[in-house]
Parts: sequence; structure tokens; C-alpha cells
Amino acid sequence: MTTSDRYLAFANSAVGSRLANALGLPRPVPLERMPPYGDTETHIIAPPLAVVGGAGDAPLLPGLARELHWLGVPSLAHVARLDWISYANKAGTMSGRFNPVEGVRPKALLFDASAIANTGELSALYTFFHDTLATLDRCARVLVLGLPPSLASTPQASIAQRALEGFVRSLAKELKRGATAQLLYIAPHAREALHSTLRFFLSPRAAYVSGQAVTLQDPVFETPPMRDQRPLAGQVAVVTGAARGIGEAIATVLARDGAHVVCVDVPAAQTPLDAVAARLEGSALACDITAPEAGVTLLAHLATHAPRGLDILVHNAGITRDKTLARMSEAQWQSVLDINVGAPQRLNAALLDAGVLRANSRIVGVASISGIAGNRGQTNYAASKAAVIGMVEAWSPVLAERHISINAVAPGFIETQMTAAVPFAIREAGRRMNSLGQGGQPVDVAETIAWLAHPASGALTGQVVRVCGQSLLGA
Ligand SMILES: NC(=O)c1ccc[n+]([C@@H]2O[C@H](COP(=O)([O-])OP(=O)(O)OC[C@H]3O[C@@H](n4cnc5c(N)ncnc54)[C@H](O)[C@@H]3O)[C@@H](O)[C@H]2O)c1
Repeated sequence: MTTSDRYLAFANSAVGSRLANALGLPRPVPLERMPPYGDTETHIIAPPLAVVGGAGDAPLLPGLARELHWLGVPSLAHVARLDWISYANKAGTMSGRFNPVEGVRPKALLFDASAIANTGELSALYTFFHDTLATLDRCARVLVLGLPPSLASTPQASIAQRALEGFVRSLAKELKRGATAQLLYIAPHAREALHSTLRFFLSPRAAYVSGQAVTLQDPVFETPPMRDQRPLAGQVAVVTGAARGIGEAIATVLARDGAHVVCVDVPAAQTPLDAVAARLEGSALACDITAPEAGVTLLAHLATHAPRGLDILVHNAGITRDKTLARMSEAQWQSVLDINVGAPQRLNAALLDAGVLRANSRIVGVASISGIAGNRGQTNYAASKAAVIGMVEAWSPVLAERHISINAVAPGFIETQMTAAVPFAIREAGRRMNSLGQGGQPVDVAETIAWLAHPASGALTGQVVRVCGQSLLGA
């Protein structure tokens, strides 16, 4: 772990935990994470136990049960009836709270709310979660599945589906011990495309993602069959800003999943860039992405290293030049806008015009919660990161016609050299002001990008997924 978070380590030591309890201080738990190297299949959810429920005729449950079976997760209570658990408790078949197997706690609660047709029926959520939440294991996952409100057949159903967002975001704030909650809105024809998303959210890959609402749209093209082992084998990925920090973690995780990674960074970072590329058996391209010839340089490199075309493009390179606007130089404004969002747009155009991005390829931008919430001293940075979100929104319908998805992640406080340089008090506030009470790791951003870049994630486009532990900023 690259954390310099001494409080997290202290609060989980024998002495520290006693002291934190006595003083009533928060005790963030160390989050379970996937190793960035090695076997990617050993860490689904352990102990593998999920409790599943649904409201009404719960149309997603059969598919969900099949997916859980494929993922090797036994679903203990596969219930299509919304009141099953409550009923079982009241009928005395369970003593006290839902506790199906002595000593075994569920690692996941999944609830199909997609058939909820009016706000009255939302009480199914109360019934299911009221009796199961307290049984959850450490770093557990809560997933609520709904129907995109715009696709509901009546205004009443649309209103009820929209309510799920408030429910999940609040529930995520109530969860303890590293547990997270998300809402997945699933369009009718996206049901078959759930696998890569469940594989992500039901594993430690999603450690620092919480309180998110993600929409799986009807895929605009056929989703290839899911391959769990090295899903990116045979693919080529470009990652900008790959010499260190989050970019290095992205390159590492994409290489772990089988991709040949073209690692791009400025010529001044040539030595660490070469080291990263050599370690990952990828290739290094020293190139300032703001240079006028950057697109041509990248295309020439790809012609040699990826003659069959490109599958994944990750716009990670980014800088901050913080100053309040009145004190900011024009150069500080220009450089941040150009590196963070000008160059990504030009690179997209160069690759699209050259036809290098293959069908079913993925573009992923790296935004920031600053681009959502705004931040004092960051008018330039927040504008650039909001523009990355704009790039995703503007291009997703256009690129869908070319069978290319475009999404973004919006990291919160991630433990990197950049955040280590922040003054102590501000750093400590940034770290703790989220539902998980700690900063994220670069690998958390990388795993989220690997999910969006997955060949079977074709139902995901136009999404902005925060990797921020449900930060209070911009919530
Ligand atoms: N660290 C955080 O907490 C955090 C939070 C939100 C968003 N982000 C975003 O994540 C991304 C990575 O951040 P990081 O913390 O790893 O930063 P970092 O400074 O550690 O790494 C950024 C990399 O980009 C490279 N780069 C900069 N300008 C470039 C250019 N013109 N051409 C090519 N490469 C260039 C740098 O040389 C560096 O290797 C950035 O877009 C950043 O805005 C970071």
C-alpha cells in the first residue's frame, strides 16, 4: 500500500483501536483490494456468500442467479418474494435478525428493485434491508438494481425508480466497516451484459467506489462473451501520464489483465517511463501530449507496435496549477486546460480520423470530483475536469454509432505524490471527509478503468463514475 495514512494504521493497531474506541474517534478499516499482479480470479468475494432479494416479479433475479453462479458466489437466499426475509423472521424460522448460517456473514446484498411501480412499493427496500444490513461482513457490497427512470412505462414507476438514487446514496453513508453500496440502472436489453459489472462490484476491485448510480444501456452492438482470465489478452492500450502515480497503476492493471500497454509520458520522465514499460513488457513513448505533432507521433508508434489498431485509450495525464483566479497567470490557466482536456480532444480526433480505434474499443477520461464540486483555487483545474465530463457526454452518442464507448472516472482523494504534497490539515480533511474515512489508492482508480475498458462492458457509455469513497464534496 502506498499510503502515508498513519492514522489508518494506528486506529487498527491493538493500542490504537482501544484508544479510538475510548475517545469515540472514527476507525476506518483497511479496505480489501485485489493485488495489481498475479492471479485475478482468486478474489471475487470471500467468504463467498450473497443474499439476494427482489420486489414484485423481480425480472432480473433469474439472470442475477446465473451470474452469481458463474462468478462462483453461492446466493444463500435466492428470493423472488419481496417480503421473504421479513416473513421468515416473523414466522420464527430465523431467530432475531437474519442470520442464516451461524458465524457466516453475507459479503453481499443484492436487491432487484426494477419492478417497483410506485412509491408505495418502495417499502420493499425497507423490508429487505432492515432485516439484513446488520449481518453484513467487513468490506461487504450492497447492490440495488433498478430500471432507468426514462424507460419506465408510467410516470409513477419512473418516480419510484428515481427514488432509488436517494435511497442508495443514503444507505452507502450508513454502512460501516468498509462496506459500499451502488445503484445499477439496467435497460431491458442490457440484462445479458451484467457480468463484467458484477465481477467488478462484487470484488475488491471496487474497494473505493461507493454511492454511485451507474446505467447499463441497451448495448449498441453485440457484447463479446466474457473471459475472466486475462480479459484484455491480445488488446492494445494507450495510457498517458504512465510514468508514475495513477497512470502507472492504470498501466499495471491493464497489463495484468493481458493488454500490451503503450506508456506515454513527457520526455523529462523518460527514465521512469522506460522502467514502467519494461516491467509491464509494454512499450514506452516519450511525448508531450500538448505538442502539435503529438497525434502524428502516437500514430507512428502504433503503426509499429499495434498494426491491427487500438482497443483502449486512457487520458490520464493531468496537472494542477492552483491559484485563486485573481492571482492566476494566463500560463497557469492555459497549461491546465490544454494538458487536461485540449490534448485529449486532439488525440481522440487524430485516432478517430485515422480509423485506428477498433470496433468495441474504449476511451476513458480521468476527471476529478473538483470538476463536479468545484474547489477554491482550482478554477482552471475544475473547468478542465468538468470539460472531461462534457467530452464524455458530448461524444458518447456519436461514438456509439462507431461501436466505441467513452466514459470517465472522477477520483477523489487518492494517495499519490500529488496529494502527499498537500499541507497536513487540508490533506487530513480530504482523506477523512468521505464515507470510508480514508484516501483511495491509485489501484482503485486503475481497477475502475479496467472495468470500463473491459470487452464485455459495452453497455456502459457516457458514464462518470466517482472513485472517491463517497466524498462529501459535490455529493
Ligand atoms: N491524485 C489525486 O488525488 C487525483 C484526484 C483526482 C484526479 N486526479 C487526476 O488523475 C490523473 C493522474 O494524477 P496523479 O496524481 O497520478 O498525478 P501525477 O502528477 O503523479 O502524474 C501525472 C503524470 O502525467 C504526466 N504528464 C503531465 N503532463 C503531461 C504531458 N503534457 N504529456 C504527457 N504526460 C504528461 C506527468 O509527467 C506525470 O507522470 C490526473 O489527470 C489528475 O488530475 C488525481
